[in-house]
Amino acid sequence: MKKFLTISITLMVCIFSIGWNTPKEKTSEQKVKELLSKMTLEEKVGQMTQVTIQAISKTQGTTNQNHQLDLTKLEEAVVKYKVGSVLNVWDVAHSVEYWNEVISKIQDAALNKTKLKIPVLYGIDAIHGATYTKGSTLFPQSIGMAATFNTDLIKKAGEITAAEIKASGISWNFNPVMDIGRQPLWPRLWETFGEDVYLAQQMGKNLIIGQQQSGYKVAVCLKHFAGYGLPMNGKDRTPAWISERMMKEYVLPPFQAGIDAGAPTIMVNSGEVDGIPSHSDYHLLTEILRNEMKFKGFVVSDWEDIKRLYTRDKVADSPEEAVRMAVMAGVDMSMVPYDFTFYDILLKLVKDGKVPMKRIDEAVSRILKVKFDLGLFDNPYQEAALRNKFATEESKNINQQAANESIILVKNDNNILPLSKDKKILVTGPTANMLSVLNGGWTITWQGNEETLYPQEKNTVLEAVIEKVGKDNVKYVEGTGFDKDINTVDAVNSAKDVDVVLLCLGEKAYCETPGNINDLTLDEAQLNLASELIKTGKPVIVLMLEGRPRIIRKIVDGSNAILVGLLPGMEGGNAAANILFGDANPSGKLPITYPKYPNAIYHYDYKPLENFDGMSYDPQWGFGYGLSYTTFSVSDLKIDKDKINKTDNIKVTVNVKNAGEKAGKEVVQLYLTDLYGSVSRPVKQLKGFKKVALNPGEVKTVEFTIEPEHLSFIGRDNKRIIEAGDFKVTVGNLEKSFSVK
Ligand code: BGC
Repeated sequence: MKKFLTISITLMVCIFSIGWNTPKEKTSEQKVKELLSKMTLEEKVGQMTQVTIQAISKTQGTTNQNHQLDLTKLEEAVVKYKVGSVLNVWDVAHSVEYWNEVISKIQDAALNKTKLKIPVLYGIDAIHGATYTKGSTLFPQSIGMAATFNTDLIKKAGEITAAEIKASGISWNFNPVMDIGRQPLWPRLWETFGEDVYLAQQMGKNLIIGQQQSGYKVAVCLKHFAGYGLPMNGKDRTPAWISERMMKEYVLPPFQAGIDAGAPTIMVNSGEVDGIPSHSDYHLLTEILRNEMKFKGFVVSDWEDIKRLYTRDKVADSPEEAVRMAVMAGVDMSMVPYDFTFYDILLKLVKDGKVPMKRIDEAVSRILKVKFDLGLFDNPYQEAALRNKFATEESKNINQQAANESIILVKNDNNILPLSKDKKILVTGPTANMLSVLNGGWTITWQGNEETLYPQEKNTVLEAVIEKVGKDNVKYVEGTGFDKDINTVDAVNSAKDVDVVLLCLGEKAYCETPGNINDLTLDEAQLNLASELIKTGKPVIVLMLEGRPRIIRKIVDGSNAILVGLLPGMEGGNAAANILFGDANPSGKLPITYPKYPNAIYHYDYKPLENFDGMSYDPQWGFGYGLSYTTFSVSDLKIDKDKINKTDNIKVTVNVKNAGEKAGKEVVQLYLTDLYGSVSRPVKQLKGFKKVALNPGEVKTVEFTIEPEHLSFIGRDNKRIIEAGDFKVTVGNLEKSFSVK
């Protein structure tokens, strides 16, 4: 009987696996192999070439020109040069409908006029939402999203962004920036998730999951690999000097988190590290990225950076050598971006035997795999059904929540905030009545500073305040521009007739090199306006709208309350007003340490010797700091073991209570300190956080797991290790200790 049963089961298994299975869909690897075998060298090199849309347009593109594709140039690019990818730098936003036309024409050329019908991959910088589509949902920039410490929210934001770029017919997003934000002068700090590795990993990972796993078939691109964010002098695209330990401890881990979350593409650092331009760095792009970090996708260059190995960096003595170096270092696709020189040169290099065919096949296979995985071979066009996912009411509400949660209350003397709605208010300062200052770069245009192109129905801070309290209660005087006085005297005189002054300071919108500054201190004209207003004796509420922490030490003591808005996005005006008048309870926390002095730049995870021998860690406000209109307390910190092996986890629980009278959200932050180590250890490191919503009186238990990785660091031999010894866990003012055997 037993034997009979065994035979029948075996038979059934055979029938199922032979007869009733539909023919298996080929894997994308199989499809790539098949397609590759049919491709000529020209077709392969074309796939590795990316041009800007300007190269296939009638004009080069400025904000006041209408865009028109040049069909002859398009055909030249797609048919003659067989380019695999086009990127967006037509510096103005289009409607969803117009995007549909553009993408369709590009794909038509690829599908109808080339032998192999390989769809074109269109890439765009949808940095905080679909930045180049009119009317899209534009979230806080990454630094503002990091300030929310809300991983569910950033996942949602990722999902909405994916839906909206996909509705625009675009499948490839040059986002997220996984550079670590530890150089506050750097004009791209706001594109990062701030100074902490763990926070950047968590926010980045969730943004990627949101964009890629919500079913919209979008590919993200991690950038800029690696070390771009740490220019020594703070200027964009200037040299970084990063030791191997620093690289492994601070720079690479956020990228690793992105790779582990499934990012299929990565963009190279536009600058140089230790004298090696990253586009020529085989060790970085192949030995580290491929062999150690196990990245399987494709590597794209940044803008014109292969050429620059010759024209700027001079590590290559000819354009040909520049292409050879970059391709052999591991760059799979070149953002050329204006011409086809890369194509011509690479073709010749292969024919001359200077670049092996194997390397070309490797690069092209990686590119084609992404195209297959994105489903572009099945449908490279915009899916019309997605249009009703574009800028929905729900997306706007989520964006409003993100903006509310991104604003950080850093000072609130005598609980002057929230204000009652019957107060007379003077609104003044250069950021009071602009949308661009809420959004920053990569908004509608590259620099994000074309105020007239912004959707006029959105509220500036001034408009949002008027909406809350009525026109009669608000007086507006500009006071000053960003760096030049306009009518400070009028502002001061007007302050005398009101109950409170809302002073909106900060930075204009900028992006990349044009955002370079020589001094982190806020412009004199703005500080002067603040000082004059403080002298009037009227309560002054300062709202900073900025992409990096501009130093305001001189006016901190005299101001009654201070809010920091790190580019809170298109709903940022409403968010500020919600918080000012108590319609939202602030819950943002600083994702960076806010400096007090330009020559005292600290990070919260400083080393013991920075706080020794007369020196002290003395920032304006620390990382993770942010007030609420209620108070929270923590109690009952417990760990489930106080002695562990190097492979064990520890469970940590803590109770958090809303001890005040308003509902609010608190970010419970868990820090770990390794008391002694063979390499000097930071005073503390964030290794867990959870954002919890609590009603007055409510208590919740929050649970964390400390994993072996959290105990590890880069040892003297530059390898990641865990050392035996004593550790301290800190949550709020509570501490527990444990030791590792
Ligand atoms: C930036 C990249 C961006 C690329 C394409 C470059 O200048 O460094 O971050 O993705 O342009 O717009």
